[in-house]
Amino acid sequence: MATTKDASAPREKKVLIVDDEALIRFGLEKFVKQEGYGVISAGSGKKALELIEDHDPDIALLDLKLQDSIDGLELLGIIRKTRPKMVSIMISGQTEIHAAVEAMKLGARDYLEKPIDFDKLKSVLEAISEELDNSSEPEPETDDLDLVFASEKMKKVVAIMRRLALKSDLTILILGESGTGKNFLCQKIHEMSARREAPYVQIGCSNIPDHLIESELFGYEKGAFTDAKAAKKGLIEVAAGGTVLLDELGDMPYQFQTKVLKLLEERCFRRIGALEDTPVDIRILAATNRDLKHEVQEKKFRLDLFYRLNIATIEVPALRERSEDIPGLTNSLLGIFCKKYGVEAKTVSPEGMAVLMTYPWPGNVRQLKNLVEKLVVLSDGDEITAAEINENLDPPLASLGQPPPLTSAVSLAMMSAPQAVPAEIEASLPDDLSLEAMEERFIRRALEKTNGNQRKAANLLNISRDALRYRLKKMQINVGDEEE
Ligand SMILES: Nc1ncnc2c1ncn2[C@@H]1O[C@H](COP(=O)(O)OP(=O)(O)OP(=O)(O)O)[C@@H](O)[C@H]1O
Ligand SMILES: [Mg+2]
Repeated sequence: MATTKDASAPREKKVLIVDDEALIRFGLEKFVKQEGYGVISAGSGKKALELIEDHDPDIALLDLKLQDSIDGLELLGIIRKTRPKMVSIMISGQTEIHAAVEAMKLGARDYLEKPIDFDKLKSVLEAISEELDNSSEPEPETDDLDLVFASEKMKKVVAIMRRLALKSDLTILILGESGTGKNFLCQKIHEMSARREAPYVQIGCSNIPDHLIESELFGYEKGAFTDAKAAKKGLIEVAAGGTVLLDELGDMPYQFQTKVLKLLEERCFRRIGALEDTPVDIRILAATNRDLKHEVQEKKFRLDLFYRLNIATIEVPALRERSEDIPGLTNSLLGIFCKKYGVEAKTVSPEGMAVLMTYPWPGNVRQLKNLVEKLVVLSDGDEITAAEINENLDPPLASLGQPPPLTSAVSLAMMSAPQAVPAEIEASLPDDLSLEAMEERFIRRALEKTNGNQRKAANLLNISRDALRYRLKKMQINVGDEEE
């Protein structure tokens, strides 16, 4: 009883089942056969490889843990390399969700928890068969996402994002420096998921005062407190059916984090003043530019919440680590801003592009975006030159001490446009505006911020550790042989 929907009867799909527990294997075989698929099965990774060689299956159901020299993850790795078109679904125990998510990052299409929900398996198999029937054309590199990327690093991130997005209940933690596009990617995850028609609610945890966070998120009942003249829905309830982004959740008050953990684990919350919990069907995304491990050490972030969040993570690389993305981003931003300001299309000269591609972008994509907007407004010609870029680009701290590319306006430019300097080390305008004094100020601030940790301070300043040590020597600050 194959569920063929159209007349051009697509070919029967062959499913490979790999599980070392005979009972589970038999159960799966029976069900998958009943659903109208061809079935082959193996009790070990080694046998599975032979079957793949001989039968070239379309879909593989792989148990994550095989009592064998080749386990499920390894098998997946081999399949991804040798049969990129084959679609793999992992089967995992409930304690192995972490590994199952890792498998999705490696290219598995989905995972199913044991005991297997056969309705779910059926719909997953159907979705994949449909996909295989329609995928005769290769996927385009860029897509409807208006998400611009060309680097290998971002290709990986986007591939992972796509796969994790499909698991529409899975909580995903998105990490990355400020301006790398975390919010932007979260919105894309929502749009790629089955929840796309339902609300998408972003909650900026750092913008809500501590004493209001509970009522903002969970709402309250009438009479819960003096001003509560009527019941009010919280943001979590507003998002029902959809996706909630807890943005900058590293800034969430410690006390409240227990309630977030409960929300994540039990999908329910309690309105202020209510006697019972309210269940809610949402996906939760969380984003932060903080180092949560460090926050845990500092007792600002709960360890249990960290563990719960750290199951599926996506790290968005800094723009300087993926400079191949810069031309595409620049051109697409040029298009957007030329249209916005009603000016004729502009391009960046090759020398100009070289400047953009070597700049370290402490403010990441946001900084690039701001610069392009500025250049569109300021530049007259249809080609933006390297000189124009240099004039409007704040010198990175790393270039201090080397012959400055600009005039003595450098230090002033740095102060007037602080986005070039990581926000953490912004300083108020000092009396002594000499380059040297400025440099020393920034370095001292950075060391203060990092409790004297040179590696972290160098990171913050966007210079190498050697460059920092060199400057410290110059400033006659004891360099020492600091070890972390
Ligand atoms: N790949 C991309 N393609 C197009 N635009 C992008 C891309 N990545 C980021 N942007 C744009 O860059 C800007 C900054 O992105 P976003 O606000 O998502 O960063 P963020 O990581 O959340 O930063 P923060 O930590 O400061 O909140 C946004 O205007 C976003 O639209
Ligand atoms: Mg953000």
